[in-house]
Amino acid sequence: MMMKTLSTAVLFGSLACAQFAPPAGVSNVSSSDCPTNGGAHIIVARASLEAPGYGIIGSVKDAVLNRVPGSTAEFVTYPATLDDYFNSESDGVLAMKKLINAYTDKCSASLPLVLMGYSQGAQVSADSLVGQQVAAFPDNSSINQPLPASTLSRFAAVVIMGDPSFVTNETFHVGNATRNGLFPRKDVANFNTAGLAARVKSYCDFNDPYCASGNLSTGLPVHLGYVQEYGSQAEDFVVNQIKAFYSNGTSTSSNGTSSSGSGSSTSSNGTSSGGSGSSTTSSTPAAYTGTASTMSAVGKIAPIAVLAGVIALAM
Ligand SMILES: *[C@@H]1O[C@H](CO)[C@@H](O)[C@H](O)[C@H]1NC(C)=O
Ligand SMILES: *[C@@H]1O[C@H](CO)[C@@H](O)[C@H](O)[C@H]1NC(C)=O
Ligand SMILES: *[C@@H]1O[C@H](CO)[C@@H](O)[C@H](O)[C@H]1NC(C)=O
Ligand SMILES: *[C@@H]1O[C@H](CO)[C@@H](O)[C@H](O)[C@H]1NC(C)=O
Ligand SMILES: *[C@@H]1O[C@H](CO)[C@@H](O)[C@H](O)[C@H]1NC(C)=O
Ligand SMILES: *[C@@H]1O[C@H](CO)[C@@H](O)[C@H](O)[C@H]1NC(C)=O
Ligand SMILES: *[C@@H]1O[C@H](CO)[C@@H](O)[C@H](O)[C@H]1NC(C)=O
Ligand SMILES: *[C@@H]1O[C@H](CO)[C@@H](O)[C@H](O)[C@H]1NC(C)=O
Repeated sequence: MMMKTLSTAVLFGSLACAQFAPPAGVSNVSSSDCPTNGGAHIIVARASLEAPGYGIIGSVKDAVLNRVPGSTAEFVTYPATLDDYFNSESDGVLAMKKLINAYTDKCSASLPLVLMGYSQGAQVSADSLVGQQVAAFPDNSSINQPLPASTLSRFAAVVIMGDPSFVTNETFHVGNATRNGLFPRKDVANFNTAGLAARVKSYCDFNDPYCASGNLSTGLPVHLGYVQEYGSQAEDFVVNQIKAFYSNGTSTSSNGTSSSGSGSSTSSNGTSSGGSGSSTTSSTPAAYTGTASTMSAVGKIAPIAVLAGVIALAM
């Protein structure tokens, strides 16, 4: 029972086609510089095995930067490995919480935070917010507690895609997953602190091998496809949530734009950031590859990391 073997998808985020010059007035790698009034600070955790940086979900971040002037972003520096998943993910939680705390110490409470994470980075984001309390993970008292309400109230939006700690009873689930993830979260109640749940979207579809315990060979494209499937919707959600944060102060929870599941009908400025210059939405042609891998997870993890196949998606 302690020996659990699992397969894990990995993403190599080679967004070869998506290089854009930063628009004037938009800052990006800011190392927790504060946004200016009207903007948000976005912290991003990449997926397993992606090169250090923002990873595939970075295109959603870029789209938000382009649409919300004064915004800033930084990424979590963490291993994002598979062969030592527990420790990698845990290091990610520590690192992300440091960034969050540095930000809340440094920047005014009137300036909102946004989190984004994909796959392992989605779990890093969720665990950072509500504590690492998930099945198959040994208890780690240094990271198992939720952030205080005073910190949670500073988030305008959280976007996670393909979260291995997904559970189907999350009220903020978007998609048609019907099964829990590989490491189901033991309790989603902490998401209700400070009304956080209304500001979160967790994208997970049926047969995703990681967030929905689907079939690795047939479901991998589902796991790899969330930015294409939902990126534009996630972008609108974040943009609207930032506006709502400014309209309604730091505890915008119930109201506004969190229409569950059905997408983004309420983008106040219509469509996503087409038009002006560099569109970085998910409609941008992007190619990436993912590789199936296996790892064994014991108390101490024996790295196996057998690359089992490569799937290339050209969109
Ligand atoms: C943000 O930085 C990434 C690389 O770190 C770059 O690819 C992207 O174009 C930048 N986006 C903006 C809007 O500055
Ligand atoms: C908890 O996680 C941190 C970050 O990975 C790690 O440094 C520490 O050793 C872990 N503690 C335990 C008891 O596993
Ligand atoms: C789940 O949703 C995805 C994305 O909309 C869709 O492609 C897929 O066909 C759906 N699967 C099922 C079983 O409904
Ligand atoms: C949600 O699902 C998880 C996993 O199945 C379960 O442990 C938990 O009790 C459920 N309810 C809440 C409110 O978390
Ligand atoms: C996954 O799907 C493949 C192809 O349909 C099938 O051969 C295999 O038995 C499935 N694996 C599981 C665990 O269901
Ligand atoms: C939510 O918005 C509606 C109008 O859209 C308003 O009637 C209601 O009072 C608001 N509720 C809260 C809690 O702000
Ligand atoms: C802000 O809150 C007011 C009520 O307090 C509500 O009418 C309005 O719709 C909210 N706006 C947004 C963008 O959430
Ligand atoms: C919304 O669109 C209008 C014109 O279509 C533009 O002037 C305005 O700057 C936009 N606002 C935002 C926040 O994008």
